[in-house]
Amino acid sequence: MTTQAYRASILHFPTQSNSPKQDYVYIEDGILVTRNSKIEFIGEYNNNINQYLNVNLHDYSGQLLLPGFIDSHLHFPQTEMLASFGEQLLDWLTDYTFPVERKFADSQYASHIAKIFIKQLHRHGTTTGMVYSSVHKQAADALFQEASSYNMLLIAGKVCMDRHCPDWLQDTPKSAQQDSADLIDKWHNNGRLKYAITPRFAPTSSAKQLHALGELAQQYPDVFIQTHLSENHNEIAWVKELFPERKNYLDVYDHYGLLRKGTVLGHGIHLEQAEWQRLQETQASIAFCPSSNLFLGSGLFDLAKAEQHHIPVMLATDVGGGTSFSMLKTMGEAYKICQLKGNQMDPMHGLYLMTQGAAVGLGLENEIGNLNPGTDADFVIINPEFDELSALRFESHRTPQDIIFALSMLADDRAIMATYVAGKAVYQADKQILKGSQ
Ligand code: GUN
Ligand code: ZN
Repeated sequence: MTTQAYRASILHFPTQSNSPKQDYVYIEDGILVTRNSKIEFIGEYNNNINQYLNVNLHDYSGQLLLPGFIDSHLHFPQTEMLASFGEQLLDWLTDYTFPVERKFADSQYASHIAKIFIKQLHRHGTTTGMVYSSVHKQAADALFQEASSYNMLLIAGKVCMDRHCPDWLQDTPKSAQQDSADLIDKWHNNGRLKYAITPRFAPTSSAKQLHALGELAQQYPDVFIQTHLSENHNEIAWVKELFPERKNYLDVYDHYGLLRKGTVLGHGIHLEQAEWQRLQETQASIAFCPSSNLFLGSGLFDLAKAEQHHIPVMLATDVGGGTSFSMLKTMGEAYKICQLKGNQMDPMHGLYLMTQGAAVGLGLENEIGNLNPGTDADFVIINPEFDELSALRFESHRTPQDIIFALSMLADDRAIMATYVAGKAVYQADKQILKGSQ
């Protein structure tokens, strides 16, 4: 592999930004050079090609090269249950989710779905996911195994739940702590993999289990933490009944020591003022999951309010509550939710939330989320003119903002030409990529 060069229109956010509308870098005719698994150089093609004349050049002229997308909240066992009709959160979990997750007790089945799941990420341009597995330790093993075979930066965790779900899906405070610790020891920082302690949500973990997971978080200060927060009104009322001594939903997690930088809370739609303030103090992030929030009828996330409170926000599909693996489509759904809230989400803002903004929230901006030299070579090639309609749409408007916006409305995996992970092509639209091949 060694050194490779890519010619394309290059777009990324090199720094942390409060104003992504301005802070992007766009090189219309650019060159990106990778050496082994890292980015070595980015710049103008014409001014720099002389230094790389002996290097293998991949010519993607006229196409866009972006950092690989980061999907900050999704469920691997729910891959097969996208688009299940009719319910809101709590019934949807009972009727669809739990029966499907039961199948993951079988590690062969889990391996089979892990292969499909990772391929779906790649064909949609996603190079990092923050992923919930099922309650079964061996399913998390299968997922990590598959991600490691592509040298991906995947963050994942075994779901912990010891009550209010079927017996056949329950762990215990002790087994949740022990199994999670075993998985951390085996997978966290094994290659590029990272672990997230994963209590499903407050209703399915007893106080004893949350306490055990808080202890684990203290024992492993650099692991990630993920759970769900304030998604649905019935869920919130239930949490108040189950934890009457806590000030609010967020305070349940706070009390057990589960909020810190690197904690990602899915949804956060119906927050009280005190919760916004506390989130700001802890620097925990919110995963904004627009297609899921619309599909499950959960509500409209207030992006403007989150940003007023300087809370790191990331975009996420929440597959299978979400209805697509496409982060581009997810950005389009986020725009529509902001419209319903009376705000316009700038397309560069949307792109930031699924690349550099997510990396910064996770503290991973030296590895992923941008195209700075020294970071890992995770990137995606997009053809804005991927069909007749998009070709027509782009005939006259081609500012970077306009391209990203129209892609967020019109595109899906059809626009993804190639996805590179750690310098290797893991997906090419016109080829079946074999593992380990260039
Ligand atoms: N809350 C608890 N579990 C889940 C889940 O699997 N999906 C979503 N969207 N919300 C949840
Ligand atoms: Zn979720």
